[in-house]
Amino acid sequence: SPSDPDLVERARVAKEKLGDKVFVLGHHYQRDEVIQFADVTGDSFKLARDAAARPEAEYIVFCGVHFMAESADILTTDAQKVVLPDLAAGCSMADMATAEQVAECWDVLTEAGIAEQVVPVSYMNSSADIKAFTGKHGGTICTSSNAKRALEWAFQQGEKVLFLPDQHLGRNTAVRDMGLSLDDCVVYNPHRPNGGLTAEELRAAKMILWRGHCSVHGRFSLDSVNDVRERIPGVNVLVHPECKHEVVAAADYVGSTEYIIKALEAAPAGSKWAIGTELNLVRRLANRFAPEGKEVVFLDKTVCFCSTMNRIDLPHLVWALESLAEGNLVNRIEVDKETEGYAKLALERMLALP
Ligand code: 13P
Ligand code: SF4
Repeated sequence: SPSDPDLVERARVAKEKLGDKVFVLGHHYQRDEVIQFADVTGDSFKLARDAAARPEAEYIVFCGVHFMAESADILTTDAQKVVLPDLAAGCSMADMATAEQVAECWDVLTEAGIAEQVVPVSYMNSSADIKAFTGKHGGTICTSSNAKRALEWAFQQGEKVLFLPDQHLGRNTAVRDMGLSLDDCVVYNPHRPNGGLTAEELRAAKMILWRGHCSVHGRFSLDSVNDVRERIPGVNVLVHPECKHEVVAAADYVGSTEYIIKALEAAPAGSKWAIGTELNLVRRLANRFAPEGKEVVFLDKTVCFCSTMNRIDLPHLVWALESLAEGNLVNRIEVDKETEGYAKLALERMLALP
């Protein structure tokens, strides 16, 4: 839908008034009406790096979800303030691993006598508490664009990996990139005693996958892949690694949002693509590449927007920018010092991956 011209003008004026004091970051899943005001766009890895590379901006307005804004706060200087235009923009996957649950899991691993061999690897899509747990126990953060390198690093540090909170990214990376088998992976369910696993199962496993998933990507199915191949002969199926293993195994290409964009940029005219990721991005790509003769379709029409990403809309962005321009610091995301120290350790290990 076209953006309200009055709001567009107000956002432009507020942003101009703030000048270099503000830097606006936009994740690829954001609405078009918001993305037009982003100084940079990116996947979660690129945005984390870009946030850290702007020490002169007093305000970082993060158009994305809560865990991304927390990571930006951790990676920016103490003088910089990170603002999330709607505090209700969370991530259901990140909410699937709480600090208490993860501490309990570590006790279970300790009881089974394996905690010393386990290196935690946490997906960026996790709270600052989980990142701090990861840093404290010698682990690293990863995103969908560096999960392979993170696992290679982790298996140099220890014999087993505890991967949180996305079981699909963990399993897909272990099987596709590390040569592990599905039998090397077990799923730890935080809602069952001992994660629903016996000590023997834990000792035999190489990958202990947290039972979390993305509610958007989890809806793509093997049927969606088979159907699109039937409907569009010669189509290239390109999906995000948060999709289920069977979907990823049936796809032609797999990668982060940034990877998806690059793949389409490099694609020849006349090629056809079915994309398995969030709808705002797929629509934008379909519109952008149609004039070049590249056909881009959504992998499954029943899958929809990420509802929390969509909470950041133009009215919220205008409100945040106008408030900042008037000297009112609203919706600041600030991680406490102790959590920040350990979480930063884990994030810096990620940024130092080869
Ligand atoms: P990317 O790092 O690929 O942008 O993914 C972030 C995300 O939340 C996917 O659901
Ligand atoms: Fe979280 Fe999924 Fe939305 Fe990404 S798409 S922010 S993982 S709920």
